[in-house]
Amino acid sequence: MSQYAQMQVPTGAVIADLRSDTVTRPCPDMRRAMAEAEVGDDVYGDDPSVNRLEAALAERLGKEAGLFVPSGTQSNLLAMLAHCGRGEEVIAGESYHVIRYEAAGASVLGGIALHALPVGEDGGLDPDQIRASVKDDDSHHPVSRLLSLENTNYGRAVSLARIGAAQDAGRAEGLSLHLDGARFFNAITALGCRDIDLAGGFDTVSVCLSKGLGAPIGSVLVGPEDLLARARRMRKMLGGGMRQAGVLAAAGLHALEHNVARLQEDHERAETLAKHLDTLGLGDVTQATNMVFLTPRADLDLSILPAHGLHVAAPDPAMRLVLHRDITEAGFAAVLAAFTMLAEAKGAA
Ligand SMILES: Cc1ncc(COP(=O)(O)O)c(C=O)c1O
Repeated sequence: MSQYAQMQVPTGAVIADLRSDTVTRPCPDMRRAMAEAEVGDDVYGDDPSVNRLEAALAERLGKEAGLFVPSGTQSNLLAMLAHCGRGEEVIAGESYHVIRYEAAGASVLGGIALHALPVGEDGGLDPDQIRASVKDDDSHHPVSRLLSLENTNYGRAVSLARIGAAQDAGRAEGLSLHLDGARFFNAITALGCRDIDLAGGFDTVSVCLSKGLGAPIGSVLVGPEDLLARARRMRKMLGGGMRQAGVLAAAGLHALEHNVARLQEDHERAETLAKHLDTLGLGDVTQATNMVFLTPRADLDLSILPAHGLHVAAPDPAMRLVLHRDITEAGFAAVLAAFTMLAEAKGAA
């Protein structure tokens, strides 16, 4: 399943864009914070806003240091490059972003092998399969070095118990532990736990600011000082050393202060939408945190959705519908109405 294939673009006004929570635009208050940001040259370590953002996330997640980077992909890549050398291996879930959607960057750029494990119904990995995937000390094999988990995964908030069991298995085998927390705060919100409860057992955590949190750009990798120093060096090597990046970090700081608590609204709306689709009998529906997945009945004329101003991903076979802060009250009402019209329309078949 690809979450990036697009369906028809609405020909008229877009009333609600449900493709992803990455489509949000900075709100006026965030733009003001960006315009007023104190800045300096971050490659020299002089940008006070970047330094504040890195320190704030490191402190929240209980880590020594943070590193501001342009994207979640770069954050995960830097983590893998910092943890692993050439000929070493990352173990992760087969549907995880690091395996499926990052163009095998760790392999291409770092000579790192990627070992994909089946992912459970809850988005977690099986501890026995983790143990079995770790290679013997034998010159035929790569050296297993890092276990990379993901939370949320396809919207699913993986329970702390499940995460803990995977961590225990990884640690017992001598692996380092990374969390792709692109939607870390959606996970925290759904699990009802503290940041530290999820982040605590990992060496490094990557958190995105430009998904449900509404910042235009940016992720922060947090972890131990020495590892982050290596990641900083790699960031420069990849051309990711930014200068007056404080204008971007200010958006991240604003997002952390104002947009974490409201994620619950996105989750509630996703639940409402899922119930609506289910009641309408449109197909198979699942929902977790801010995402709804609809595998539509074959006879539906899905072109009704863009015709009514919905920008949606193509079904593959499920259609991913993502709730976020840029969907207004009226936009959400229009989403519900468009699906009602889909159910009432004469089928395509
Ligand atoms: C789970 C997960 N990890 C990492 C990323 C990469 O983030 P970016 O698009 O900022 O590179 C995404 C993007 O959607 C994601 O969903």
